Amino acid sequence: MFKRKFLAAVLGTAMVASLMTGCGGAADTSSSSNDETEAVTEAATEAAADDTAADDTAADDTAADDTAADDTAADDGAADAGGKKVGIAMPTKSLERWNRDGSYLQEQFEGKGYEVSLTYSDNKIDQQVKDIEGLIADGVDLLVIAAIDGESLSQVLAEAKEENIPVISYDRLIMNTDAVSYYVSFDNYTVGKLQGEFVRDQLDLDNATGPFNIEFTAGDPADNNAGFFFNGAFDVLKPYIDKGTLVVPSGQTSFDQVATKSWDTATAMSRFQNILGSNYSDGTQLDVALCSNDSTALGVTQAISTDYAGSNSVIVTGQDGDEANLANLVDGKQTMTVYKAVANEAVATLDIGIALLNGETPDASLIDKAGWSFECAYDTSSYDNGTGVIPSYLLVPTVVTKDNIQKELVDTGYYTMDENGYPHPTN
Ligand code: BGC
Repeated sequence: MFKRKFLAAVLGTAMVASLMTGCGGAADTSSSSNDETEAVTEAATEAAADDTAADDTAADDTAADDTAADDTAADDGAADAGGKKVGIAMPTKSLERWNRDGSYLQEQFEGKGYEVSLTYSDNKIDQQVKDIEGLIADGVDLLVIAAIDGESLSQVLAEAKEENIPVISYDRLIMNTDAVSYYVSFDNYTVGKLQGEFVRDQLDLDNATGPFNIEFTAGDPADNNAGFFFNGAFDVLKPYIDKGTLVVPSGQTSFDQVATKSWDTATAMSRFQNILGSNYSDGTQLDVALCSNDSTALGVTQAISTDYAGSNSVIVTGQDGDEANLANLVDGKQTMTVYKAVANEAVATLDIGIALLNGETPDASLIDKAGWSFECAYDTSSYDNGTGVIPSYLLVPTVVTKDNIQKELVDTGYYTMDENGYPHPTN
């Protein structure tokens, strides 16, 4: 219900945005933050800068619309914001979801009157360090960071701590630094568990004798989430592997063997082509490709379509609801994706961020106080970043299949369905 309300507001303001473009008054706020964003972005690589410019335009349009459309709220927000700046560091535009995260976050904070600088670092670790240094030099009052490599930000975040800038570790936990104040994410272990349970239920593993053949593809070892996703799925399926109901013909069952650097689609594809060539070219049937997310699932489905000799439909899992993967769901090339409503992740980040900017120490009570109508757990035990447990706000993921795309993604306003039955994201 909340989601619908949230998206209706976004869609409504987006429409107003296109009407208000070029108007003065409130629009000035967004154009100055737009300049900021571009100034920071220009420090990034050419490729990232190009991407960001394109992305920023869309995001700024929406934010401009929000500001212009909702004068009262924006004015109140601006008064609360007190000229404070928020620095948002996203990993890359090449992985679809971060484009959505960046624009939702920007829109949320700008809607409350904060100045926002948004950077994308082209999946380059050094670039992200430089981008964060730039944000600190720029005088931001809060950092929201989705790390490329969770282990590489200790030094730059020591600078943030020195400047008393609170840091929200966004979606991915930043490791080995005591500068991180809070972690906001989805329940990452549950994402993997949902994938494993989906496979278990589809194959009726508790009753069927099989054996069924399965291969695993996991994410980037530099991303702390990747192990959680893999373990969540593997813990569900391991008893069936032990029993022999599930067989892994490649023998690749450890995280290190199945990981995919940078979550890269082409890397996942070529690894899977090798697996198919070495283990399935004799007519062995592949029943399941357990993929941790959509960017890797995309490569795996490409490999299956070009290099798999069998004609059965392989169960393929994913995560995120990327546009190409949802098209594959409709076309029967991918079987499920775990959807995480990043619009809600941005809302949670906003409320935690505002509390931090006001010098408060948010805890479990924030969830009721904020009145979110999406589920969220406050967790103080699961995520230790090497310096101690980081208090975490964890949202709840949802399984999406061909059969509930309309209900979960379109009726909620996150996607629209085109006349051919393919969903497209609304932001
Ligand atoms: C996110 C996933 C995403 C992956 C690659 C992870 O940290 O939680 O949603 O698929 O990064 O972008």
